[in-house]
Amino acid sequence: MRKKVIAGNWKMNMLPNEAIAFIEQITPMVKDTENEVILCVPYVDLFYSLLSAQNTNIKVGAQNMHWEEKGAYTGEVSGQMLKSIGVEYVIIGHSERRQYFAETDKTVNKKVKAALANGLKPIICVGETLEQREQGKAEEIITKQTMLALEGLIKEQMKNIVLAYEPIWAIGTGKTATSEDANNSIKSIRNKVAELYGKEIAEKITILYGGSVKADNAKELFSTTDIDGGLVGGASLKVEEFSKIVLA
Ligand code: PGA
Repeated sequence: MRKKVIAGNWKMNMLPNEAIAFIEQITPMVKDTENEVILCVPYVDLFYSLLSAQNTNIKVGAQNMHWEEKGAYTGEVSGQMLKSIGVEYVIIGHSERRQYFAETDKTVNKKVKAALANGLKPIICVGETLEQREQGKAEEIITKQTMLALEGLIKEQMKNIVLAYEPIWAIGTGKTATSEDANNSIKSIRNKVAELYGKEIAEKITILYGGSVKADNAKELFSTTDIDGGLVGGASLKVEEFSKIVLA
């Protein structure tokens, strides 16, 4: 059975002192869970969060990275830099980066490769817009994004990959995909992975759902056959709410 993974995506929220307080508060609440708990925090919070999360079961991730190791890329942070302070996960290809920061399937693929080369575990986001869904193109879009993100990866690397299905129309809108729809979309992503890497790898890979996950819908979403947990935005900013999702 696949382990459930609950990843918080704080986006551009939380100052270092707030991050420290959050982790201190949530640590005892989630200490007995068998689920993987990850907090993807802003760059400036990474170091503080890593220190606060030492000797706990909480893992820390970044929300983006550059694909080059170093060089003249003002304002960017590399995979090597993240790894050097002990970061374990990194979100890649979030729809907000695709939408506002010119992230493309190509740059997603480059970042995924660089993350793996540095021993980081990428959480790769794919998802369709409302328009694409209404045109009946959702499955085509998400399987294509998946294929392009993974292009050039070998089987051996797939064990360090996490995928996240995040329908864009469900992010931050309060509209959650029905658990059935989300599960079906995730099944089609899993089938794509099977087609590319074989059934065994497809059965093992973790695929999360993201988009308005809350304490009161988490259980239903996570009890489906193919949803292996959540990538949680807004609801990951509140200790009570996020701990309930972890324990759901
Ligand atoms: P949301 O965000 O939970 O606030 O909808 C999810 C995400 O963008 O990862």
